Amino acid sequence: MLRHIRKVKHTIYLILLCAKLVMAEEDTVPVEELQKLEVEDGDELTPGYKAPAKVDLQTIQDLDADDESLQKYKKELLGGKQDILDEGGNNVLVKALRIIVEGREDLVIDLTGNLSDLKVTMKEGVKYRLKIVFRVQREIVSGLRFLSQVKRKGIKVDSSNHMVGSYGPKTEEHSFLAPMEDAPSGMIARGVYNIHSKFTDDDKNIYLEWDWAMTIAKNWK
Ligand SMILES: *[C@@H]1O[C@H](CO)[C@@H](O)[C@H](O)[C@H]1NC(C)=O
Repeated sequence: MLRHIRKVKHTIYLILLCAKLVMAEEDTVPVEELQKLEVEDGDELTPGYKAPAKVDLQTIQDLDADDESLQKYKKELLGGKQDILDEGGNNVLVKALRIIVEGREDLVIDLTGNLSDLKVTMKEGVKYRLKIVFRVQREIVSGLRFLSQVKRKGIKVDSSNHMVGSYGPKTEEHSFLAPMEDAPSGMIARGVYNIHSKFTDDDKNIYLEWDWAMTIAKNWK
């Protein structure tokens, strides 16, 4: 009954609307207005309305089938867990710190064995980049960080905190290349810098903490 009354009201309103249009001598039909009325009454869906296309999982997977790096990343994060080398110990193993100077062989600090006397000698003023090499064995790690604090004669002179990122388990080593830095230079700057480094993650896990020394000399050794 109520519905019937609404329908009648609706019809009367439409007649009035048409009459108004005729009186205004408008030749364009206000389709939107008519559609709005119908939807309000719940009698009909807006004509021309298109439901979003249904997309299944397979389609999503196929979408980026050609993007090799994305596929690799997905595989790294999701798959092949049983094939990954597990050397025991921490989920994240820090393997080495490499000091990269253009035109020279990398200086390599092995972080897998005895950590008690790690040192390198660098020529003053050279541009270099630190590269940290590590492996993730079992679980995805997020928010890896590489932190260092530099002291000269016991006084803190520098510190760095690099966001390394999130990585999935993989047999091969991952590596992170820190931005370019300038080795100190000048007579006063030459000498030994003692560095305390840490490799951590967002959950405050410390995977490795080690001390090493960088000697700045007038020339390469
Ligand atoms: C580690 O190296 C230091 C010096 O290089 C040495 O004195 C020490 O005995 C070594 N420790 C082990 C466990 O090999």
